[in-house]
Amino acid sequence: MYPERPAGIAFGGDYNPEQWPREVLEEDVALMREAGVTLVSLGMFSWALMEPEEGRFTFGWLDEIIDRLHAAGVAVDLATPTAAPPAWFVARHPDVLPVSREGVRIGFGGRQSACSSAPAFRAATARLVRALGEHYRDHPAVVMWHVHNEYGAPLGECYCAHSVAAWREWLRHTYRDLATLNDAWGTTFWGQTYTDWSQIDAPRANHTVVNPAQRLDYARFSDGEHRAHYALQRDILRELTPHLPVTTNFAGTVNCKSTDLWQWARELDVVANDHYLRAERPDNHIDLAMSADLARSVAGGAPWMLMEHSAGAVNWQPRNLAKRPGEMRRNSLAHVARGSDSVLFFQFRASRFGAEKFHSGMVPHAGTDSEQWREVVRLGADLRRLAGVRGSRVRAEVALVWDWESYWALELDWRPSVDLGFRERMDAFYEVLWREHVTVDFVHPSADISGYRVVVAPSSYLLTEASAKNLHRYVESGGNLLVSYFSGIVDEHDTIHPGAHPGALRELLGLSIEEFHPLREHETVTLIDGLIDGRAEEDARVWSERVRLAGARAVRRFGAGPDAGHPAFTRHDLGAGTAWYLATAPVTGLPGLLGEVLDHAGVTRPRGLPDTLELVRRGRHLFLINHGDRPVAVEGVSGVSVFDGVRHDGPVTVAAGAVTVIEETQETQETRETLQP
Ligand code: GAL
Repeated sequence: MYPERPAGIAFGGDYNPEQWPREVLEEDVALMREAGVTLVSLGMFSWALMEPEEGRFTFGWLDEIIDRLHAAGVAVDLATPTAAPPAWFVARHPDVLPVSREGVRIGFGGRQSACSSAPAFRAATARLVRALGEHYRDHPAVVMWHVHNEYGAPLGECYCAHSVAAWREWLRHTYRDLATLNDAWGTTFWGQTYTDWSQIDAPRANHTVVNPAQRLDYARFSDGEHRAHYALQRDILRELTPHLPVTTNFAGTVNCKSTDLWQWARELDVVANDHYLRAERPDNHIDLAMSADLARSVAGGAPWMLMEHSAGAVNWQPRNLAKRPGEMRRNSLAHVARGSDSVLFFQFRASRFGAEKFHSGMVPHAGTDSEQWREVVRLGADLRRLAGVRGSRVRAEVALVWDWESYWALELDWRPSVDLGFRERMDAFYEVLWREHVTVDFVHPSADISGYRVVVAPSSYLLTEASAKNLHRYVESGGNLLVSYFSGIVDEHDTIHPGAHPGALRELLGLSIEEFHPLREHETVTLIDGLIDGRAEEDARVWSERVRLAGARAVRRFGAGPDAGHPAFTRHDLGAGTAWYLATAPVTGLPGLLGEVLDHAGVTRPRGLPDTLELVRRGRHLFLINHGDRPVAVEGVSGVSVFDGVRHDGPVTVAAGAVTVIEETQETQETRETLQP
């Protein structure tokens, strides 16, 4: 259920007028009108003002603001302020303060200072949300609910007594009897057998490594506790306002490890995501695209909302670089290209005090005679012209397997190499596809993937038997699967699948691994062509292993290193499809190897475009975003340029740093569809 209002692409951001004198509200409303702001998120951190003492609710100040915004035609995404429990509440219930894995109880003075499992916090949450919901249920300005703020960041796991009590309940519910738990956790290792539920603690900091299955379950449990805290609020709001969508903003799909967003997305009426650039990375627009694609994917392909990004610099990175001219526009339109129906910022007006006073806002400290504000106003105009994009879908032929459980498990302690990390391979494959102008979806390994020409599994260390079967079926019925090293190794309890690695994928890949040979820090090995023997082709790093073929054939072999002469890149034709396996991390050769798989599967890519041009199709709109410093000519474009109304039939030139959106003519789309093999 997407919010019905505002129409078109929603534009605006978090708005915190409670930090300003009343007259600034008037100025802000005028500025919102000037920029064409249509939606603001209100009340996110205002619990202390909404309930100054237990049970006394004061919404008058907020009524005034909401009425004023409504009169100006600005819709409200009303937040429940549970990410900022007030001082009086924490003082009365100090037991709600979260405890870290190291045993440190955090103090009041930041935010997210209550444990999602604490009974007093849940009770206070329910009271407040009911009062808020009852007060605003019929207010015409309120178009949706925004629960809490960024569950999981920074508070992922809590180790307080309430958490431990809830954890034991969760374990009883999950395992039913202790024998099953002991078995699942492999407690015969290091003599950890439990004989009573009360003996089980949270996996606190330890002088050695804690049982990995216990830690993995604690990650599941902790995420579930936050979800329960969300659901408590959502259910109250749904009861009071069944016509309004309820959401919570994800703390960056790709950058918040602790939340399993496949699970979360099912609980939301509309997916909302925050994304902040890692400012110093020159190609940070690729991370942005990945975050947006993952948001769309967890939303099941439906339009989602960009709930927060920044107009300029953030304040929490080592060096907070301001956005360069045009960068905020490129960022915003890239989110829209990849499925967002909103462009919202943190925050409307930059704060003068508090922890985030050096964070940019749509209205900067410098005021409206600034490049920043002019860009904001221009973006508002752009988005009005893009209203027709709303609701349309992005189609992808290639999918990347992304599973948070595998992320958690892979990054526990004592793996064969510190160079193994979930994001490392994921980013490497995503980046190659991005630079090849191939739009991708992300999928859970158990999902229906039959519609994709190619599925890539870069970091599927944890793979259940059921998911492995799903991948097997996909290949047998004609799919192309590319698996990267250290995948299919363990089951849902971090227990190695029986027999040689990769236990879950041996048959599918037509091979087994006799021994891992992780490389030294700067060591590289060469890959040589498997068919024309002896020709050194490219370097690879991080990983080598002894692959034994059992049905697959070698497409490349290791030319040097511990596995010289043995397979490094293999293919296994199985049923109507093919399973490929890459046993190392190529340094420059990944585009070539991945290209072989894409070609084999008939995934066409536009030729001759620089890898700084972002090209995405959403519905009948073609987005061309030039991240480079030279103009780019894109051939064969037929349609109308949305921003200047110019009709094109042939090449379109996108200026350096610019964005062009073409509403394609019907014929072009049909031709494109029939041209696709
Ligand atoms: C987000 C958060 C916002 C604001 C922003 C600053 O993570 O949800 O409230 O703190 O970061 O970049």
